[in-house]
Order: sequence, then C-alpha cells, then structure tokens
Amino acid sequence: MLGGARETGVAGQTEHPSCRIREMAKYDAINLQDKLATFGEQWAPKVIAELNDYQFKLVKLQGEFVWHSHEATDEAFIVLDGAMTIEFRDGAVALTAGEMYVVPRGVEHKPRAEHECHVLVVEPRGVVNTGEAGGSQTADNDVWI
Ligand code: NI
Repeated sequence: MLGGARETGVAGQTEHPSCRIREMAKYDAINLQDKLATFGEQWAPKVIAELNDYQFKLVKLQGEFVWHSHEATDEAFIVLDGAMTIEFRDGAVALTAGEMYVVPRGVEHKPRAEHECHVLVVEPRGVVNTGEAGGSQTADNDVWI
C-alpha cells in the first residue's frame, strides 16, 4: 500500500492537506506573435503589459513616421520581426530582429521601415507616439489588446 498509515481506505477519514484538489490560479503567458496577429494597423501602438509605470507596446511600422521627441522620457525600441531605421538629426541607427535601441529623452527621432516591421516599444504610461509633434499619425493612447 502506498502512503503508509494515512491511506487506510476508511471513508470519511480526515484528508491530508496534500491530497486535496486545490484550485489553481491561472498564469497565462503573453505571446507576442499571438498578440501581433490580433491587429493590422500600422503606427498604432497596442499595450500588452505594464511594469510599474511602464508599458510594453506592440507596433507595426511601415513607411515614414514624423520627426518628434519625448521631452520627459527615453523610449526603447525592440525589433521582433523585420528591419527599421531610427533617424536622428545627425545620423541614424539600423535595427533588425533581435536588436534594440533606446532613444534618449528630448532627442528628435524619426522611425521608418521599408517593409512592415514589428516592434516592442517600452516607455512610461501616457507617452504619445508622436511626442511633441502631434499630427495625423498621432495614435490613441493606452489601447490594450
Ligand atoms: Ni518616439
């Protein structure tokens, strides 16, 4: 017999705690590819998670964005699929899948991508995609998927 003295087979016997069927909490992974498959809009960041005051946002880029800056915060670009360039007034950085770059606060930048590029952006909650520039490419903020 397994379990020794506790398993006597007597109905109604006090159950050992380890024998109870416990209600399990649900821990769901956030799958980046699954999330990317839920939208097609370009230049419209979608929030997938928060870390304290920071948000993780997925965005699909193609073409040219506007020159802009974020006076209050740095902005991280992590390329998941494809390739993109972040232009600065005095140069540019080319990024492909598996590469990232952090744009310092206050520095003017213009993302662009020849073909559609999928990016994970990390920045504080409330940051507007066009920063101080505004304009037609300004996306709704805090849109969760
Ligand atoms: Ni920006």
